[in-house]
Amino acid sequence: MITGRALNRVDGPLKVTGRATYAYEQWEAGQPLYGVVVGATIGKGRITRIDTAEAERAPGVRMVMTHRNAPAQGPRDESIQFEYWRAQPVLTGPEVHHHGEPVAFVVATTFEEARGAAGLIHVEYAEGRGRFDFAAHETEAYVPKVVNAGLPADTAVGDFAAGFAGAPVRVDQRYTTPYEFSMPMEPHACLVEPRGEDLIVHVSCQIVDAAWTSVAATLGMDPERIHIVSPYVGGGFGSKLGVHAETILAALAARALRRPVKAALTRQQLFQLVGMRPTSSQRVRLGAGRDGRLAAIAHDVTMHTSPDVEYAEQTAATSRSLYAAPHRATSHRMVPLDLPRGADVRAPGEAPGLLAVESAMDELADALGMDPVELRIRNEPTVDPERGVPYSERHLVDCLREGARRFGWERRPATPASVREGRWLVGYGMAAAIRGHFQAPTAVRVRLEADGTAVVRTDMTDIGTGTYTVLTQVAADGLGLPPDRVRIELGRSGYPRSWGSGGSWGAANSGTATDRACAALRSQLLDAARSDPHSPLHGLPAAGAVFADGHVRIGDASETLGALVRRHHPEGLEAVGETLFMADDPNYAAYSIHTYGAHFAEVGVDADTAEIRLRRMLGVFSVGRALNPKTARSQLIGGMIWGVGAALEEEAVVDPRSGAFVTRDLAHYLLPAHADVPDIDAVLLDGHDARANTLGAKGVGELGICGAGAAIANAVHNATGIRVRNFPITLEKLL
Ligand code: MOS
Repeated sequence: MITGRALNRVDGPLKVTGRATYAYEQWEAGQPLYGVVVGATIGKGRITRIDTAEAERAPGVRMVMTHRNAPAQGPRDESIQFEYWRAQPVLTGPEVHHHGEPVAFVVATTFEEARGAAGLIHVEYAEGRGRFDFAAHETEAYVPKVVNAGLPADTAVGDFAAGFAGAPVRVDQRYTTPYEFSMPMEPHACLVEPRGEDLIVHVSCQIVDAAWTSVAATLGMDPERIHIVSPYVGGGFGSKLGVHAETILAALAARALRRPVKAALTRQQLFQLVGMRPTSSQRVRLGAGRDGRLAAIAHDVTMHTSPDVEYAEQTAATSRSLYAAPHRATSHRMVPLDLPRGADVRAPGEAPGLLAVESAMDELADALGMDPVELRIRNEPTVDPERGVPYSERHLVDCLREGARRFGWERRPATPASVREGRWLVGYGMAAAIRGHFQAPTAVRVRLEADGTAVVRTDMTDIGTGTYTVLTQVAADGLGLPPDRVRIELGRSGYPRSWGSGGSWGAANSGTATDRACAALRSQLLDAARSDPHSPLHGLPAAGAVFADGHVRIGDASETLGALVRRHHPEGLEAVGETLFMADDPNYAAYSIHTYGAHFAEVGVDADTAEIRLRRMLGVFSVGRALNPKTARSQLIGGMIWGVGAALEEEAVVDPRSGAFVTRDLAHYLLPAHADVPDIDAVLLDGHDARANTLGAKGVGELGICGAGAAIANAVHNATGIRVRNFPITLEKLL
């Protein structure tokens, strides 16, 4: 088996030698024009005058597009279920909905000319009264119809009020999380190339099918005339699930000018135009017996939304499957603010939700005088406590025990603020991780060529996560070929449609579809061989056939796949494998399917300055079968590091007067650097979730962040005795 091995990334050499060509780098498209997006400098109001004459006269300028001359575009169609497939019109009118919203697009011969001319556009505004301050408007919250992923906004089981009132030990606390942004290394970028009536859209995106549908709908074009190309993507983290203004504007300009146009958002513009994780205020109530068993759990979340595009992160849904308790309730409420819209950011729901719930569980352990690992084990459910269905598999307790053992959890200071090493107060913390596993429709075509090699094609993307590598492994095993005889071609519209990379569903969806396509090919090859008098396998029984080393073998007889294909299908033999949308897959109705983990962290807090230092961190995870432990571990560690940021650093701050984010670059929006992450490891439990899919594999990418921040917050409490409930835990909150 090659699947399950730590195969190095097959695209690694291309990437480290600069031969993997990203969207903005498509030089063979011919000399492109450069587009620059110009943003509004007010947070709410309308444009009263826009003077582009000076910019239009500037050297090299080919076009200045504003709401006055932008072509008509398809409207956002709310009847399309998923936002990322809807049209995304820009420059639609003089109204300004949020700071930085595009007001113009300048296209020039060079980037410098475009940027220079952008500064020559004179815009006058009538400034309106914007709602920018979450706390000031929190009482205006409304109930959304559904939350992200189609989940209900509110749920209730039993009688929470009575269960909570009757519980001898109670926690009732409010936690807040800030606006957070996806910051992929490669910013949002595209190059759009007109070819005849067609547009070739090289764009950095997570879901090619969404980009395809959305660009075509926005431009009002036949999708057949649009070609999305996205073979390499430098990270997305949710922010590239859909396309953004630079792509729509470049496509409009390329179509009008009949020239290739490229555009990229600046790092600053990412803080305005790609959406962010909503800020949240979360009330968590836990009522338990003195034995630690939960009688009642409530998780009530209020978050911001744009009034124009509702986005309700499924933050309270985190608590729906996590712990047993007879009485339970969850709710989501939305506060409309004139800010950029909320959007999916790595582990939407669980990432902020577990910060709150797993902090509250630590507070409960404290109130009970109970070990936090033990408290969680005591509340392990036997069936999904809200849905009442069994878990497909649930190894949270295994993760907790294995993590505690490896980490040396028994050395945890039993009393907060009791251990000091020199200047440092030392503390341990832990938290559980849970993440929903999603399945979505994905198709993969596998083709065996007459030379005995295989090509796997799907519009699936590799956003740095390892798709090229894991599909190589799955197809190599599926056909019994060495990995170097398998070629993976991804990221083009026109290839079989997938749900791309997002929500941690990519590898399991595309891997399963690849596996199924290979199974179909095996059966066709076997039929061909057994019915072929020229084959050494003629007339032999199919049972016991083995595909290995480029051969199909039955007993001592064997033949190469190449020879079989050449005789029977000289033009090549192909098959398509698919996964179903989870609503259409009976297993997903019959079982509660999740991934699990446990995080353990040790921190030091400077006794005088309150400087917080992560000293070491360990995560133990259960993801079903890991297709490649190396790429899986890398993703989990990346997620854990993101959790370090969520606990200690990440926070985008809005100026409540202007509605502008003042943290608008990576000097002010802080992320963990190497020095912040001295010793970190992720361990995967062996597993195979046969209910999730035929491969037994589930999502990996987003699990790492889930709960990671809470483990650090709990360690900070253990070190100092101080509980900070407003994330991130910046040092002034400890003084
Ligand atoms: Mo996911 S929110 O597409 O990282």
